[in-house]
Amino acid sequence: MVDVIVGLQWGDEGKGKIVDLKAKNYDIVVRSQGGHNAGHTVVVDGKKYALHLLPSGVLNPNAMNVIGNGVVVYPPQLIKEIKNFGHDIKNKLLVSDKAHMILDHHIKIDQAREKLRGKNKIGTTGRGIGPAYADKIARIGIRMGELKDLDSLIERLEHYYEMNKGYFKYLDIEIPDMKKLREELQNWQEELSEIIVDTTKYLWDNIDKNILLEGAQATLLDIDHGTYPYVTSSNTITSGALTGSGIPPKKLNKVIGIAKAYTTRVGNGPFPTEDLGVDGDKIRKQGAEYGTTTGRPRRCGWFDVVAAKYAVTLNSCDEVAVMKLDVLDGFERVKVCVAYERDGERIDYFPSNLERIKPIYVELDGWDKSAHVRKWEDLPSNAKKYIEFIEEKIGVKVKYISTGAERDATIIR
Ligand code: IMP
Repeated sequence: MVDVIVGLQWGDEGKGKIVDLKAKNYDIVVRSQGGHNAGHTVVVDGKKYALHLLPSGVLNPNAMNVIGNGVVVYPPQLIKEIKNFGHDIKNKLLVSDKAHMILDHHIKIDQAREKLRGKNKIGTTGRGIGPAYADKIARIGIRMGELKDLDSLIERLEHYYEMNKGYFKYLDIEIPDMKKLREELQNWQEELSEIIVDTTKYLWDNIDKNILLEGAQATLLDIDHGTYPYVTSSNTITSGALTGSGIPPKKLNKVIGIAKAYTTRVGNGPFPTEDLGVDGDKIRKQGAEYGTTTGRPRRCGWFDVVAAKYAVTLNSCDEVAVMKLDVLDGFERVKVCVAYERDGERIDYFPSNLERIKPIYVELDGWDKSAHVRKWEDLPSNAKKYIEFIEEKIGVKVKYISTGAERDATIIR
């Protein structure tokens, strides 16, 4: 039985909390795309954990964790997170030998290219994600399995730097000192090689267990279906989770889509329901909307049904979780975008190009307090109406509602 959890908006929906909540039901938790651009925050027994590369199953003592072939891995970050958790975590962690490696020069290229883009910058996390995936697609990338044979890896890297020296010069990036790099690779080999395996085979061998594919980033950041070019460089949707893990599509059981009760975005790019006024500020403040990975303030706005409907369809969602409902506590009125308008024409579908798109809102009555409510019956009636309105519009059951950061501040319907 394989389930998938995917983000339905522009990321930071709170996927980590639902994964953590459900992780006890799974034997294996898998990350299948993205890298340390992701940041899940989970609070367990009052302690806050920020996970970037490690799957959220590390918080469940009984789950195995897999970093799948579709992930791009920056070894120093992985080693750091393993150390933070304690070395024992290695007994519960496997990394795909097919996952591509982020090296320091990818990070430098990411940052240099953003600088060159000037006002058109994407607003990447600066973690080297795009350049590492670009190398993968160009078939010049380095895979984690190559750490097992340092001589051959060094030879490939020498060739790589030779081939790219013009590009490096253009971006003013130094080619690394090979002796120093070898030492670093050696250290990564010592720290990681025992957990680098063929995870596709591992997952096939364990396909009858309960497996959770944990999405990173989210649908509207998908390289194909998101707001290109203001997207990340992987397929963040359900089909990407299958490609990025090697799980055969027909083994898929359930897809759970995660959305916030409002919308946020970090980085540049279109955002039809962004609120640049006091309401947006209030959402940011009440929701502590600052990036886990970069600390950047997130752009905030209202729930967008058009985008959510597009996302639940693309991902084949069976059920949806609406997170951070309590952040909307105290608003007299709350807005929901039910359609778009462009040049006087009404649009009910999320289009490939969002230029000149304006939201058409419906306003609903707000509520005082939903924070820490744990039962549907205990929610204020306007909060229930808000959830039911969203549910009716997107056509998928809202099964989970989160009303606070703690694990148990969750309503399950
Ligand atoms: P990159 O993934 O670092 O290349 O960044 C590309 C875009 O995706 C930027 O707008 C980032 O802010 C956004 N992004 C990447 N990872 C996350 C995430 O985990 N949450 C939210 N936005 C993200």
